[in-house]
Amino acid sequence: MRYTRGMKWERVEQPQQVKAVAALARDVWEQHYIPIVGAEQVKYMLEKFQSVEAITRQIDAEGFEYVLVPDAGYAAWVPDLEKKSLFLSKIYVKDSQRGTGLGRALLELAEQRGRALGCMELWLTVNRHNTNSIAFYERMGLRKTKELVQDIGHGYVMDDWRMAKQIVKAEELRSRVVSRGLGGGLQ
Ligand SMILES: CC(C)(COP(=O)(O)OP(=O)(O)OC[C@H]1O[C@@H](n2cnc3c(N)ncnc32)[C@H](O)[C@@H]1OP(=O)(O)O)[C@@H](O)C(=O)NCCC(=O)NCCS
Repeated sequence: MRYTRGMKWERVEQPQQVKAVAALARDVWEQHYIPIVGAEQVKYMLEKFQSVEAITRQIDAEGFEYVLVPDAGYAAWVPDLEKKSLFLSKIYVKDSQRGTGLGRALLELAEQRGRALGCMELWLTVNRHNTNSIAFYERMGLRKTKELVQDIGHGYVMDDWRMAKQIVKAEELRSRVVSRGLGGGLQ
């Protein structure tokens, strides 16, 4: 099966959906991150960022929007309307579903949502040792913009790349450039 943007996905709003995301997160994170950062840090990060309580708080109070493809993958983003940017905070596909277009479809959903909200840029952070995901993001048109070191508490530090992509429609970009009087050579 191949996934496309037209696939069946759910906006996560109900406690049952939050539970499903937390279960999927545990599954994917334990499989994917234990070899990268170790079991102790994964346990700590799941509790801090992907427990039912943490996800509920993110949705209710921190501006997160979660989308779920049940038993397959999920994504979450936080729009910043003032900065016209969309922070893609989570994008995870279950091991058995990778390479089926689901990661692309989830990223495209995030871009579509960002554009609908008037955002110009999509950005994210990724562990510098997460080489497969970095290759996926590059394939999807994101570029590394800077190195980040983030203290997440309990002595854990995240060594990340910030990566970003312009998501504004070409015609809008053109009209912004023209309205600034810089549009001389643009077709
Ligand atoms: C990264 C991830 C979300 C990608 O999802 P996916 O469903 O496997 O990716 P897709 O099948 O949609 O691939 C999309 C495109 O990226 C390419 N791609 C995917 N993984 C790649 C890799 N490791 N190297 C190079 N290209 C890659 C695919 O070939 C495809 O190209 P195409 O559409 O032009 O043919 C998924 O592998 C994952 O969840 N990984 C583990 C968790 C993780 O690290 N998440 C990111 C946290 S920052």
